[in-house]
Amino acid sequence: MDRPKVCITLAGKSLQEDIDILNKYRKFVNLAELRVDCLKDEERTLVRKFPQMAKIPTILTIRRNVDGGQFSEGEANRTILFAKALAFGSDDKTKNFAYVDFEEDFRVSSLQDAAFVYGMKIIRSVHNMENPITNIKQKIENLSTSEYEIPKIAFMPHTLADVQRLFEEAQELKDSNHIVLAMGPLGLPSRILSYRLKNYLTFTSDSSPDSKISNLGHIDPETLVKTYRFNDIDENTSVYGITGWPLTATGSPAIHNKGYEVKNMNSVYIPVRAETFDEAFSFAKAIGIKGMSVTIPHKESARIKMDHTENSVKTIEACNTIVQKRDGWYGYNTDWSGFTRALIGFTGLKTLSGKNIAIIGAGGAAKAIAYAVKLLKGKACIFNRTLKRASSLAKIYGFKYASLGPESVKELRKYSDIIIQTTSKGMNCYPPKGKEFAPSTEDNDPIYFYPFKGHEIVFDIVYEPQTTPMLGRAKGVNCKTCNGQTMLDYQAYEQFELFTGASYNGTN
Ligand code: ATR
Repeated sequence: MDRPKVCITLAGKSLQEDIDILNKYRKFVNLAELRVDCLKDEERTLVRKFPQMAKIPTILTIRRNVDGGQFSEGEANRTILFAKALAFGSDDKTKNFAYVDFEEDFRVSSLQDAAFVYGMKIIRSVHNMENPITNIKQKIENLSTSEYEIPKIAFMPHTLADVQRLFEEAQELKDSNHIVLAMGPLGLPSRILSYRLKNYLTFTSDSSPDSKISNLGHIDPETLVKTYRFNDIDENTSVYGITGWPLTATGSPAIHNKGYEVKNMNSVYIPVRAETFDEAFSFAKAIGIKGMSVTIPHKESARIKMDHTENSVKTIEACNTIVQKRDGWYGYNTDWSGFTRALIGFTGLKTLSGKNIAIIGAGGAAKAIAYAVKLLKGKACIFNRTLKRASSLAKIYGFKYASLGPESVKELRKYSDIIIQTTSKGMNCYPPKGKEFAPSTEDNDPIYFYPFKGHEIVFDIVYEPQTTPMLGRAKGVNCKTCNGQTMLDYQAYEQFELFTGASYNGTN
């Protein structure tokens, strides 16, 4: 089977802007798609010269509003634009567009003839920006009327189940002379695992925040090729992933995929966005995903669905790693072990025996940390805004508990050998320009009422920003401080080991 090509969709306002974007990614792409509908009016009439400027096989596309594009001027004007772009074909094929995208209902014989005469392939496309498309095999067959046409079906999935159906239906497609894909963030697996869909190509685009095509759910070509090792994916590739919702930003694919690359493993790790864990689990089974990281809010549901769970998962009531083995699915928790490794590395302590420890917060992260502190033989007090949550967590381990406010300052002082902050307060609270951290306030510092003395060891599980207002305050009086980055890294390394059986050395 032919490998899917990497195509960059160019949606700039001018041809020069498009060339600049293409040049940025040139070494990662095989084709470019010129989205004429995104160009300014005065540039649209100049597109005939674009293939010569691009020096790469190029797709000519003028996408209408109804298909998710920017072209709103009606079919007569679109036909004229196509005609201008396809006219005066050169005998030197590199000076012509290599492909032209005509929608299923756009059949203008003079334009089709022009395309055929100059050796261009027609991408015969169907888009549904609102609903999933089913019965893919039949539709692909109906669309494809000649060997010069590449049928394309793109739709917006409502749930991950729609993406799963696409993968299942694509099994029946014979060759790689088609493009089938699910758009938007849910559809990302269909772009990365194009090989599985036997696609002719996959679309990518520049990762600029003001992109007009951000709704399509593209990733940029460099990330696709370098992070996801797109050109190495084949039928033997082991697929792993991360599931969560909304899972808008995750550093895990970069960590895991680097690990595979360094060890020369034929594996890939992809984001699997799903509103429910059940959908993600069903998708994993359907496409043969061998292991997944599980993040917010699915850690509790994942625990229930596993055939086997470690004790830590049962006690913490959360599972952040699932692995398929011969006798079923296994659930693990690497949050507590990742934290343990990070804390030991940072403090140099082998045990917490004799230490009085404050755990700030009583949510999911605090549960894993309380488990770790108990195993390390620490004595702790849990401070939380909602006292009931603090008391139920404390009870499991025989810890003390207290409310989270100025009334608890004395109690906090008693447990101040090591202060571990597990709430989301301080997250995304970035420092002003030129400063290392934002000033502490009641809103961004969960223990704003507590004056650090300097003897405290302070661990904040937040990693964005690197220095939270609370950590900044602690640093100011020379406390030893650590943010959540190492915990995040270590929990991922342990997942890597559970998935592959090999140790992680992607940082070497
Ligand atoms: P996670 O799984 O990330 O720990 P969680 O289970 O929702 O998320 O827990 C969030 C923790 O942060 C809880 O301890 C929560 O306190 P409550 O139990 O009182 O809700 C704490 N938290 C969140 N926002 C907070 C705020 N503005 N002030 C104080 N505590 C806060």
